[in-house]
Amino acid sequence: MMFVNGIKCNAVNMNEADYRHADAIVIMLCKECVPAIEKLLLPQNIGKTVSAYLALHDDIFEPCELRSLVVDSDGKLQLIVIVGCGCGNECKPNNFRKAAGVVSRELQRQKISKAVLAAPILLNNERAHYLQALAEGLYLGAYKFTEYKSDAKKIAGCSVTVVSTVNEAVQTIGRAEIIASGVSYARTLANRPGNAVTPEVMANEAAKAAAENGLEIEILDRNYLADKKMGAILAVGQGSNNAPYMIILKYNGAGDAPFTAYVGKGITFDSGGISIKPSANMGEMKDDMTGAGVVLSALSVIAKLKLPCNIIGILACAENMPGGTAQRPGDIVTSASGKTIEVVSTDAEGRMVLADAVWYACRHGVKRVIDIATLTGAAIIALGKETACIISNNDSLADTIKIAGKMAGESYWHMPSLPECKKAIKGEIADLVNSTGREAGCITGGLFIGAFVDEGVEWAHLDIAGTSTAEKTAGFTVKGGTGFGVMTLVRLAERI
Ligand code: BES
Ligand code: MN
Ligand code: ZN
Repeated sequence: MMFVNGIKCNAVNMNEADYRHADAIVIMLCKECVPAIEKLLLPQNIGKTVSAYLALHDDIFEPCELRSLVVDSDGKLQLIVIVGCGCGNECKPNNFRKAAGVVSRELQRQKISKAVLAAPILLNNERAHYLQALAEGLYLGAYKFTEYKSDAKKIAGCSVTVVSTVNEAVQTIGRAEIIASGVSYARTLANRPGNAVTPEVMANEAAKAAAENGLEIEILDRNYLADKKMGAILAVGQGSNNAPYMIILKYNGAGDAPFTAYVGKGITFDSGGISIKPSANMGEMKDDMTGAGVVLSALSVIAKLKLPCNIIGILACAENMPGGTAQRPGDIVTSASGKTIEVVSTDAEGRMVLADAVWYACRHGVKRVIDIATLTGAAIIALGKETACIISNNDSLADTIKIAGKMAGESYWHMPSLPECKKAIKGEIADLVNSTGREAGCITGGLFIGAFVDEGVEWAHLDIAGTSTAEKTAGFTVKGGTGFGVMTLVRLAERI
C-alpha cells in the first residue's frame, strides 16, 4: 500500500482493530446500521459516547453529514468522527465514496496521522464494492493541486485502517489506490495551465505513461498528420505555434479479441480561434484537454490492473488559437475520411479533431469507439454539472456505459439521436457544417463526430463539458478538474 494524496489505507478484521492507539476513530453509519455498532467491538468509552450522541442526534445519517467529537481515553485525547452514508436505499457504494471524501479532508484538517475507520456495512464478506468505493473516496477527497504554490506545505501523511471482513480486502484497496492515482493524474493534467500543457507535452506525458505501463505508443506529429491527410485536426491546430499531435496508445490484454477505441479531445487551450470566446473565464479553457487526459489515465489504470481487454487509446491534441495562420470561419477543410467540413465556427474545434481521430480509430478495425470530450456548453445547459451526455448509435452500449458510470459514481444520461439533428449537420456547400447554432447543441455536436465512424462500428460519445470541472469541493470531488470519466472507462473495460 502506498500514499495517494497523503492518504494510505489498509484493512483489518474487527478483532484486530487497534482502536486504542488511533488518533481518530471514524464511524460510518446509516440509520439501519445503528444496531450493528456493537459488532465493531469499539472500546467501551467510545461505544458509549457514540450511542449517547446518536440518542440525541438522529439527523446525522444524511450522506456526507459529519460530526467530530473529542473524547478522553485514559488520558489520551481521541477524535471520534461520525459520518452519515445515507439511509435505506441511499446507503449505496457511491454515498460511501462521497462520505469518505469528506472524511479524508476532516482527518487532514484535524492533523490526524493514524485513524481507524469502522462501518457496520463492511462486516460482510460480499461488500468489496463498498470497500473499493470507500477507499477511492478517501484517496480522491484528499486531492490537492499545489504544484504552483511556492509555499505549499508538505502534508503529513495519514494512514487509515479500515475495519472489514470483506474478502480480498487488500486487493480491493490496491485496486482503489491504482484507480484513484489515475483519476488524480487526470485532475492534475486538467488543472495545469495551457502554457504548461501543450500538445507536445501531452505526447511526452503519454510516452512516459506508455513506458511505465508497457503500452505500445505511436506519436503522430504534424508531418505525419499531413501525410495522412488529417485535414480537420491540422486545420484546428494551424493557428498555433504549438503543433498538433495525435497520440495512439495500445493495451493488449486479451489476445486477439476485438479492440475498443477510447478517443479523447485534447484541446490544450481553447480560445475559440478567430470565432474568439469572450474574455471572462476564458482561462477555464485550459481544461479542454480533459477528454485526452482521461483516456491517457484510463489506459494506464487498465494496464496496471491488467484487465483482460483490448483497448486502443487516441489522444487528439491541438491548441485552438487565433492568428495569421489560423483557420477562418467559412473555410472548407477535407477531413482524413475525405468528407468535407464547412467551418461555420472555429470554436467548434473539438468535433473536428475528433472527426479525424474516430476515423483513424476505425482504420484499426475496432469493434466500438467511445469518444470523450468537453464538447459543448449546451451539455451543461441540458444536464448541469453532475451528469454527462451520451450520444450513441447503439442503445445497449449506451446502457452499459450508464451502468459502468453508476458503479463508478459518475452519472450519465442518454440523449436521443434526433433525425432533425442529423439533418442539421448536413452542409449546403460542403458535406457537413461544424456548427448549427444553439438548438440541441450537445446532440448535433455528438452526431457530427458519429458521422466519421464507420458503418457497423458501435459508437458512443460522452460530452463531459459540465462534469470535467467542479465549482466547489464536495464529497470525493475537489474544486477544479474532476477526472470525471476515468472511473467509468475503467469499469467499462471490465465489462466489455
Ligand atoms: N470547449 C468548448 C465547450 C465548453 C464550453 C466546455 C464551456 C466547457 C465549458 C467547445 O470547444 C466549444 O467552444 N463549443 C461551442 C460549440 C459551438 C460553437 C457550436 C459551444 O458550446 O458554444
Ligand atoms: Mn471551442
Ligand atoms: Zn473546445
